Amino acid sequence: MGCRVFELLFWVSLILCLACLVRGFTPADNYLIDCGSFTNTTVGHRVFMADNLASKLLSTPQSVIGNISKASITSSDDSPLYQTARVFTDVSKYTFSISRQGRHWIRLYFYPFAFGNYNLSLAKFDVSTENHVLLTSFSVQAPLVKEFSVNVTSNSLAVTFSPLKGSFAFINAIEVVSVPDELIQDGAHLVKSSMAFQGLTLQALETVFRVNMGGPTVSFENDTLWRTWVPDQRFLVEKNLALSVSNFRAVKFVEGGATPDIAPSTVYGSCTEMNSANVTGGNFNVTWEFDVDPGFQYLVRFHFCDIVSDALNELYFNVFIDSLMVVRDLDLSTYLVNVLAAAYYMDYVTDLVTSNKLHVSIGPSTLPGSEPNAILNGLEIMKMNNSDGSLTGSATINASGSSSKMNIGSIVAASAGVASGLLLAGVIFMVCRKRRRQALHGQSKTWIPFSINGGTSQTMGSKYSKGTTASLNSNASYHIPFLAVQEATNNFDESWVIGIGGFGKVYKGELNDGTKVAVKRGNPRSQQGLAEFQTEINMLSQFRHRHLVSLIGYCDEKNEMILIYEYMENGTLKSHLYGSGYPSLSWKQRLEICIGAARGLHYLHTGYAKAVIHRDVKSANILLDENFMAKVADFGLSKTGPEIDQTHVSTAVKGSFGYLDPEYFRRQQLTEKSDVYSFGVVLFEVLCARPVIDPTLPREMVNLAEWAMKWQKKGQLEQIIDPNLKGSIRHDSLRKFGETAEKCLADFGVDRPSMGDVLWNLEYALQLQEAVVGRDPEENSTNMIGELSSQINNVGPLDPTVSSVQLEASSVNDLSGVSMSKVFSQLLKSEGR
Ligand SMILES: *[C@@H]1O[C@H](CO)[C@@H](O)[C@H](O)[C@H]1NC(C)=O
Ligand SMILES: *[C@@H]1O[C@H](CO)[C@@H](O)[C@H](O)[C@H]1NC(C)=O
Ligand SMILES: *[C@@H]1O[C@H](CO)[C@@H](O)[C@H](O)[C@H]1NC(C)=O
Ligand SMILES: *[C@@H]1O[C@H](CO)[C@@H](O)[C@H](O)[C@H]1NC(C)=O
Ligand SMILES: *[C@@H]1O[C@H](CO)[C@@H](O)[C@H](O)[C@H]1NC(C)=O
Ligand SMILES: *[C@@H]1O[C@H](CO)[C@@H](O)[C@H](O)[C@H]1NC(C)=O
Ligand SMILES: *[C@@H]1O[C@H](CO)[C@@H](O)[C@H](O)[C@H]1NC(C)=O
Ligand SMILES: *[C@@H]1O[C@H](CO)[C@@H](O)[C@H](O)[C@H]1NC(C)=O
Ligand SMILES: *[C@@H]1O[C@H](CO)[C@@H](O)[C@H](O)[C@H]1NC(C)=O
Repeated sequence: MGCRVFELLFWVSLILCLACLVRGFTPADNYLIDCGSFTNTTVGHRVFMADNLASKLLSTPQSVIGNISKASITSSDDSPLYQTARVFTDVSKYTFSISRQGRHWIRLYFYPFAFGNYNLSLAKFDVSTENHVLLTSFSVQAPLVKEFSVNVTSNSLAVTFSPLKGSFAFINAIEVVSVPDELIQDGAHLVKSSMAFQGLTLQALETVFRVNMGGPTVSFENDTLWRTWVPDQRFLVEKNLALSVSNFRAVKFVEGGATPDIAPSTVYGSCTEMNSANVTGGNFNVTWEFDVDPGFQYLVRFHFCDIVSDALNELYFNVFIDSLMVVRDLDLSTYLVNVLAAAYYMDYVTDLVTSNKLHVSIGPSTLPGSEPNAILNGLEIMKMNNSDGSLTGSATINASGSSSKMNIGSIVAASAGVASGLLLAGVIFMVCRKRRRQALHGQSKTWIPFSINGGTSQTMGSKYSKGTTASLNSNASYHIPFLAVQEATNNFDESWVIGIGGFGKVYKGELNDGTKVAVKRGNPRSQQGLAEFQTEINMLSQFRHRHLVSLIGYCDEKNEMILIYEYMENGTLKSHLYGSGYPSLSWKQRLEICIGAARGLHYLHTGYAKAVIHRDVKSANILLDENFMAKVADFGLSKTGPEIDQTHVSTAVKGSFGYLDPEYFRRQQLTEKSDVYSFGVVLFEVLCARPVIDPTLPREMVNLAEWAMKWQKKGQLEQIIDPNLKGSIRHDSLRKFGETAEKCLADFGVDRPSMGDVLWNLEYALQLQEAVVGRDPEENSTNMIGELSSQINNVGPLDPTVSSVQLEASSVNDLSGVSMSKVFSQLLKSEGR
């Protein structure tokens, strides 16, 4: 019987395995043409059709067919596609019928040989599609492949070759192949602002660089989408500062991250890291330099996979494009559900590039305790079409010669205008409906910002209030009709209310596809409510993170202001601390919740070039899902942080009483440190399980922050902790936690730690709590310190005489030279013994 089951399992898994092997992308449109050839040509597993078979696609078949012999091919590894070419003496076009609309690659192969009357190096021509100019006054001196991708929105695509006056055009091979939809999403980060870029799906792109860091060339045969990745050596500015690492077997593809179609594991499995052996102190960047055409924006895609760390949360680093920091203290482990070496990518759109060089750098984080290292696994740089739809500086849609030559100056002016217009618009984005379900399954790529191209959008400002510049696209599929909201909430059934806030009531609901949602219905429009409504949509649609609550949709019909979020099964953190009779949370659960919330806030503060300040951090704005994972909610008051060169944002004081940063209150100057203060109050609230302001208590106890600080300063915090926690918190863990909260509540922002430091310290507190193996929680806790110090004494790199008390008493900065994350991982490992 048992054997049967195993046999069955064997066959099932074998079939699944085979299914995996044959899985992979099958392009709906797949035109491969070996131009000028009379025979089909096989390259890898792909057959390029003989040109005479493709001639029905060609509108001017009278052009010359060149044909050279193998002998005249110089390099032995030149593609067989280069043996023949088609030459055009007049405007000619290939027209491909498109069976599935969407993004398609156009790959053009050129090899400039000489044949008969034609020396192909002398050819000069333009190439364009219906909507985009791909190449102008193009000539070829060495073999090359040009790769473009365009979103085809009709049933055919024409590629037109137009010789310049007195010259001719040629082509050796053409591919027109469907691109998987997931490859280019609509949204990306902007390099210069915390706003998101939207509208990538409308862009024509030219792949200008596709680089495999720290590894060899990955040829098209080893890429599911027939791309070629070149090694990074020749782009490195200082080769001796970089080190190549590979670990192909470590690479994992997990939900929410990259897929093998985004880049193959051969790309993720190698990286270039900092060569710290060469420079003591490790204070340097690794920089790559790329030649680019000025006057265009570029889409820069970073591929990351932490194949160098032994444990999560070990590697923190900074990423730069030119001299702008695009990610500070990047911790790859925060992006994907605690999987080390998960493949991940990030898209950044540059401003209009004004120089002919683009630099990409990685450098060490300045977070205390982090070991100086930084990695990059792969990089793609794609040129984006300008406002004329062109990918080249001098645009000619037709070959008549009298074409409009664009001058760079006018492109710069026009596009800069568009860019600043976008900024002014206080852009509001939308999520595409079909992605909604994925949002609920914890996928991180949830946010599809929608286009705000002026023509079709309607401004809320003109409709509802004066002076509001934000605009919502009324056509967005992301918009949820009022009827659907009514249906989802049983017509706003009062018995379905799960919360009431300043903004209005929150209802539980269920969309007709079964998705559980929380529906927040704003009070009748007020100017302030409207502003918060827009801020919330704006903020939530830009920030996607596992520890930030996801917005599913909104409804602004009938003067309503309704926001629809993913439903958080376990409600607010506050309700689990006091006043609602839920079972008490364990210390470990509470630490994990604080860590989750800290991650969310850390991401807000650092995930973009400009910090975002939440401004209303409190236990009622930290929500818990069915697994008690914390997500930060309620962005109605959020503000973008100070510009790099300023130190604060001046603003009217807002927030919640009891959590409010006194310095902000006094000076009305907002920085990230105000969130840190409020978070410190939350930490004490979590520890003591009482309201932050409780007027029924004796005077000195009313304000939790003051009361707890008093006991913390006396070193007797354990006197006021939640009675339910008594005996279950390890001394060291409590001490670390108390110190962290205390630092958060420092009077002056400059003395408070960053959210990154807070996160780090909380993780440390959790490690200290967990450090001892298999102990019964009921057991006498007095000998815990002894236990822990004996554990720590086992840790290799530390002086064996260092006791846990010393270790814990020394601040992070005092342990220079010792990687604390190494200590963590050691502690973790000893737990498993
Ligand atoms: C080259 O042209 C000759 C005829 O001129 C033809 O027989 C031969 O097949 C062509 N070679 C290729 C590779 O197309
Ligand atoms: C060449 O390829 C085309 C299309 O792929 C196919 O129809 C044709 O039979 C092939 N010809 C030869 C000689 O293999
Ligand atoms: C073709 O033109 C190139 C560039 O002008 C030149 O260097 C080369 O010698 C020419 N080849 C032939 C066979 O004429
Ligand atoms: C192509 O553009 C259309 C809008 O014109 C858009 O709806 C579609 O999602 C785009 N497709 C891709 C794959 O980008
Ligand atoms: C492609 O992968 C195979 C193994 O899967 C390897 O043997 C081969 O060297 C790779 N080729 C290239 C060009 O990377
Ligand atoms: C720097 O590193 C490179 C490669 O690891 C090595 O060849 C070189 O000798 C090193 N230079 C110094 C000064 O250590
Ligand atoms: C790394 O590069 C950035 C941007 O150019 C620069 O601001 C920073 O100072 C550099 N860091 C080091 C350690 O050189
Ligand atoms: C690129 O071309 C599309 C038209 O295909 C246009 O909608 C878009 O605005 C262009 N991009 C830029 C940055 O101008
Ligand atoms: C090319 O463009 C010019 C100027 O816009 C126009 O006058 C001419 O008719 C066009 N020629 C073709 C073949 O489309």
